[in-house]
This record gives sequence, structure tokens and C-alpha cells, in this order.
Amino acid sequence: MTDERLARVAQGWDEAADGYEEYFVPRFAPWVRTAVDSLTSGSRTAQLSDGPILVPCCGTFPELELLVERFPARAIAGIDLSAGMVRRARERAARLGSADVEVVQGDAGTLDPRWSGACAAVVSVFGLQQLPDPEAALRSWVDALAPGGRMCVVYWPGKTEDDGPFALLAKVIGDRSDSSWEDRLVGALDAGTVERDEFVDFPMTHPDAATYFDAADRAGPMRALALARGDAYIAELRQRYVAAAPAGEWTHHPRARLILVRKPPSRAEATPPTS
Ligand SMILES: C[S@@+](CC[C@H](N)C(=O)[O-])C[C@H]1O[C@@H](n2cnc3c(N)ncnc32)[C@H](O)[C@@H]1O
Repeated sequence: MTDERLARVAQGWDEAADGYEEYFVPRFAPWVRTAVDSLTSGSRTAQLSDGPILVPCCGTFPELELLVERFPARAIAGIDLSAGMVRRARERAARLGSADVEVVQGDAGTLDPRWSGACAAVVSVFGLQQLPDPEAALRSWVDALAPGGRMCVVYWPGKTEDDGPFALLAKVIGDRSDSSWEDRLVGALDAGTVERDEFVDFPMTHPDAATYFDAADRAGPMRALALARGDAYIAELRQRYVAAAPAGEWTHHPRARLILVRKPPSRAEATPPTS
């Protein structure tokens, strides 16, 4: 991504941050919980190995409460591109009063080498699909895992539903983005073992189509598009969206893809003691 495009993505999320926390964080909560739960799911590997927990694309950091509750003694670090999101995330960390939380402003597409092989876990929700090179990002996140470490990534695929608010938005925008990278993700995970790769859906309700459209525009991923294309374009899009949508409250079941990966344990951990 060019610096200009990256700056526009960051500005879009800066402007969206307050509204995102209010509108989307409660609606996305079931996926966030599922991602955090999956880090210790399965009877054989219920404990995380030593090391910090890294959260790329943390946004306002809704993962934090759950992580602090489950792993109170861990160092936890969030990374996000947007200064507005980072400010919100730091406010959340201060509210929780947990000492060992760090929020770094930066590009999570390629991690700082200081994380390499250091982390007990990496968990990222709804960030991957925004990155210019998701395969490279996944490689870099797996590289951050210590032996035996676990990574859970949840992202919105190109197709989240056949019919519903997300599908209609993609249709009126005329979204033709290339989703072929999704087929290549598992190939990017050869440094680990894929333990789960599945779609996860939950119900989500919007008061009505116009309210959802305005939230996506002011508080969601459409902000960057709005900045690039201007108010007249968004007004025309809104008109077409509302005209094509059903009236009244709108409930749908969008599906996200969840990938859980485990880095092989070190030889010492993998070999059972002989005496
Ligand atoms: C939909 S929000 C998800 C936030 C949070 N994980 C959640 O589940 O609510 C996506 C976040 O990805 C961040 N983001 C987009 N591109 C990024 C990049 N290259 N590096 C780091 N963060 C990025 C945005 O700033 C935004 O905060």
C-alpha cells in the first residue's frame, strides 16, 4: 500500500473511532469472545506457553477485557495504525488499570522484529481483510509465536452472506475486490499447524437500513472510501442503499472466517521425559 493510501486508511479509522466503539464493538462482541476463547480451547493445550499476547489491528481494543480476565499476569500488546483508535485503546487499558498493557501505533502488516519468536499468543479480529498483503501479515504474525504458541485470526471474508446489510452494501458500492488471497492463507501458515479453519456466524441486529449505512459511513470501514470519494458520492450511495433495503429492524447472520494455528512446541517440550 502506498504511504498515501495507508494514511487515508488511518485517517478513516481516526474519524471512525468513537462511533466504532459505540455501534460496532457491541455487535462484534461474539466473534471477539470466540477468538479469545479459542486460544485455550482443546484439552491437550489448555495452557498458553510463556510470553506476551499480541493483538494486531486492535482498534479500540475490545479484546482487552477478556484477555486480562483470562490471562491476568500476562504482558499484552495491541498494535493499530490509527492514532484515534490507539487513543481509545489506551483509555480502555487505563480504565482497566492493568499494568502490563502496551498499545503501539504502527502498521501491523509487518511486525517489528522484537516480536519474532517471543509471543505466547497472537489474536486479531476483523483487521486482516484490511491489510494490503494479508498473506505476508499472517506469516509475520506466525513468526511472532514462541514454540507452542497459538494464533487466532478472525476476519471478514469477501462474501459474508448471500443477503443482508453487508451484502447489500457491497452490491451498491459495486465491490469487485479480489478475494483470491483468502485461498492462499493456509499456504502462508506452513510454520504452524492449522487446528481450526471454519466460518463462524452470529446474529446481528440494526435498527434499520439507514442507521446501519450511517454507522458504516461514519464509524466503520466506509470512512476511508468516503474520504476518497466525497460527500456527493456517499449521499447517492445512501439513497440507493435505503431504497433497496427492507423497512424496519434488520437482523442478519454474517459469517466470519476463524483460523486457529499452533506453532510446534520446542523439541524439549515435545519429547516426554524418559525417567
Ligand atoms: C474493524 S477494526 C477491528 C478492531 C478490533 N480488533 C475489533 O475487533 O473491534 C480494524 C482495525 O484495523 C486497523 N488497521 C487497518 N489497517 C491496519 C494496518 N495496516 N496496521 C494496523 N492496524 C490496521 C484499523 O485502524 C482498525 O482499528
